[in-house]
Amino acid sequence: MKIGLLHSLIRKDEKFLIDELNAVKGVELVMIDDREITFNLGKDDFKLDVVVERCINHSRALHGLKLFEAAGVKCVNTYNVATVCGDKLLTSVALAEHKVAQPEVRVAFTEESALKAIEEMGYPVVLKPAVGSWGRLLSKINDRDAAEAILEHKAVLGSYHHSIFYIQKYVEKKGRDIRSFVVGDKCIAAIYRTSPHWITNTARGGMATNCVVTDELNDLSVRAAKAVGGGIVAIDVFETAQGMMVNEVNYTMEYKNSITTTGVNIPKKMVEYILQVAEGK
Ligand SMILES: Nc1ncnc2c1ncn2[C@@H]1O[C@H](COP(=O)(O)OP(=O)(O)OP(=O)(O)O)[C@@H](O)[C@H]1O
Ligand SMILES: [Mg+2]
Repeated sequence: MKIGLLHSLIRKDEKFLIDELNAVKGVELVMIDDREITFNLGKDDFKLDVVVERCINHSRALHGLKLFEAAGVKCVNTYNVATVCGDKLLTSVALAEHKVAQPEVRVAFTEESALKAIEEMGYPVVLKPAVGSWGRLLSKINDRDAAEAILEHKAVLGSYHHSIFYIQKYVEKKGRDIRSFVVGDKCIAAIYRTSPHWITNTARGGMATNCVVTDELNDLSVRAAKAVGGGIVAIDVFETAQGMMVNEVNYTMEYKNSITTTGVNIPKKMVEYILQVAEGK
């Protein structure tokens, strides 16, 4: 069986995955560097059973997946999943369509309508670029003065990406959120990310501890994964007074710090799923 790994720089996450893939008898691993590959549209014949996407750059991931799928190669995750998860607006639409609980979200296209929406929602709210990660350029807005200032800055200084206003109700989340890992139809592990800062990402200093996967967490996580198209995804979950809610779904999940924290061999579970896809199960 030939498995392609679409990658950029090899981080620890990729290293663990490579080790697990190499440990499987009968697997031939083909490394595909996104800085070197070129596509020949309509003529490519990759002879791969599956491509595993592990790019760092969202655009390369998205377009690479499209091109591999167009050449008849199955991909983990699929182009559709990457498209939906790569865009918080599309993710929220998918979650709403599938009735998966999420914080209140409003979308506006102008400064004026965004301010009106924010005032209706009540403070605090969080403004996020629809496409973005690692907690960058998130703004928690506590009052009208801040709302006006942030909206004006985005309108005047922001790139094209900031012209769509994605506004989420701020959730009181007890100083932590949950990152749950879904592989296929199961939530295999989860961590709490605790931080004195309202942004709890481990990339921004949040502390990771094990989180027991309850039936409620498993059910919500799997439903969220299915809503965006399924596969191998990591879900951000808030614990609120109204129950658990999904904040977002990540499609090239980072898990390197969660293996020892959870005691679960996450890359091994990923490889089991990848093999199933390759075998067409
Ligand atoms: N509406 C909200 N209420 C409370 N906290 C929030 C809210 N939105 C985001 N946060 C905090 O900010 C963190 C980052 O937000 P989010 O996951 O939406 O952004 P991101 O840039 O996509 O991060 P990443 O892709 O690295 O997970 C969340 O994990 C959470 O701690
Ligand atoms: Mg997140």
